[in-house]
Amino acid sequence: MNVRDSEQVAQQMVDGGYTVVAQEKQADVILYNTCSVRDMAEQRAIDRISSLRGLKKKNPRLIVGVMGCMAQSRKDELLEQLLDVDLVIGTQKFHETVGHIEHLQRARSSNLPQEKIVAVGEESGSQNTIKDHVLTPKQSSAFVSIMQGCNMHCTYCIVPSTRGEERSRPIAEIVTEVENLADRGIKEVTLLGQIVNLYGRHEFEKVDGQSPFVQLLRAVSSVPGINRVRFTSPHPIGFRKDLIEAIRDVPQLCEHVHLPLQSGSNRILNAMHRGYTAEKYLELVNQLRSNIPQVAISTDIIVGFPGETKEDFAASKAMIAAADFDQAFIFRYSPRRDTPAAEMSDQIDEEIKMTRNQELLAALDEVVARKSIKLVGTEQEILVEGESKNNLRRFQGRTRGNHLVMVEANERWRGELLPVRITETTGFTYYAVPVLAEFD
Ligand code: 5AD
Ligand code: SF4
Repeated sequence: MNVRDSEQVAQQMVDGGYTVVAQEKQADVILYNTCSVRDMAEQRAIDRISSLRGLKKKNPRLIVGVMGCMAQSRKDELLEQLLDVDLVIGTQKFHETVGHIEHLQRARSSNLPQEKIVAVGEESGSQNTIKDHVLTPKQSSAFVSIMQGCNMHCTYCIVPSTRGEERSRPIAEIVTEVENLADRGIKEVTLLGQIVNLYGRHEFEKVDGQSPFVQLLRAVSSVPGINRVRFTSPHPIGFRKDLIEAIRDVPQLCEHVHLPLQSGSNRILNAMHRGYTAEKYLELVNQLRSNIPQVAISTDIIVGFPGETKEDFAASKAMIAAADFDQAFIFRYSPRRDTPAAEMSDQIDEEIKMTRNQELLAALDEVVARKSIKLVGTEQEILVEGESKNNLRRFQGRTRGNHLVMVEANERWRGELLPVRITETTGFTYYAVPVLAEFD
């Protein structure tokens, strides 16, 4: 979501006559978009911003802005802590960025007192402002933000306070955005929301038993030129039959579901306010697998939530094999300001969190090793993104199940849907050769 928001602000800056430069030292304006979901993300942002001291000394006219969740939750405090920051833009004020920067630049060029701006208020309709795209040549995949905010109030999570109440964009506007993307060569869209399957529940009606989200998925999937549709992240609550059937029946909808579990212990799930049990979660996984045999399921799990006992942790570990996850992201619980879990008395030692993190990763490796080997020898379709992050002589792409696949670099394939045969796997990464007869 932050990547998407940053693209919007970048496009706004370009429309306002600014140019994107390659390095910080060439810039007149540096904006940091920030995440608050865990403390580590905030610390990294603070370190990066603090490291601008030298640049700011060399170029006193440099404008430094902080946007996003950390801006929203820390507001003026950021200006006090980080003296070089001139501008703080909250999560509902991205569209005001250029106006504020112009104002600050005018003040600097007329030698007026060096003001600072903090814009962190609520803005009704701000969900409709994230809609423009800067695309690189041959880009084939794009994110589309369909809603903002979250009303779930999981007790560990800062998002409801940084992103506000759930608000959804109209289906027609989202479809228009996707049509424009398809016209510009985009083949795959990923619909984004904090709890994407609850899209539109306050604004729009069910039609023929289909939730607003399923109506949207079907509409977006029928846009000519769009070959693949993904979404992230859904909540197990509200993941109903209409959605499972859509993934089964709509050819463009990819067979991958990222379904955050958070914990395998019912006691902890209850303390987290997740609203489901481990049994219910498994029932949903089984329904997905029986309706969509090739579905890949990934998840998020938090270790070391306050009060997590050995038994609670063992229940999370048992879920990895029970749900047969294709991929999982494991997080150490990080206390966040103004959240109920941060106030709970039985916080867990960092060392225990670390050990549990390692133990879950080892359990995951086992399941993933067993599953990944089954893909070797199969034919898959990948959407080729471009150079691999680690080896520029290779291109990388994703299967419909979201497996990361490497092929040899070849300009002809960039941005294309390419049939490949999987030849090898390390568990999380796959290697493949193109099935050229089909491609030519
Ligand atoms: N500590 C650790 N992990 C967290 N997440 C959200 N809040 C916290 C927190 N306070 C994780 C959840 C969520 C993912 C995006 O980040 O697992 O699904
Ligand atoms: Fe946070 Fe829970 Fe909302 Fe996800 S559903 S954003 S974890 S409050």
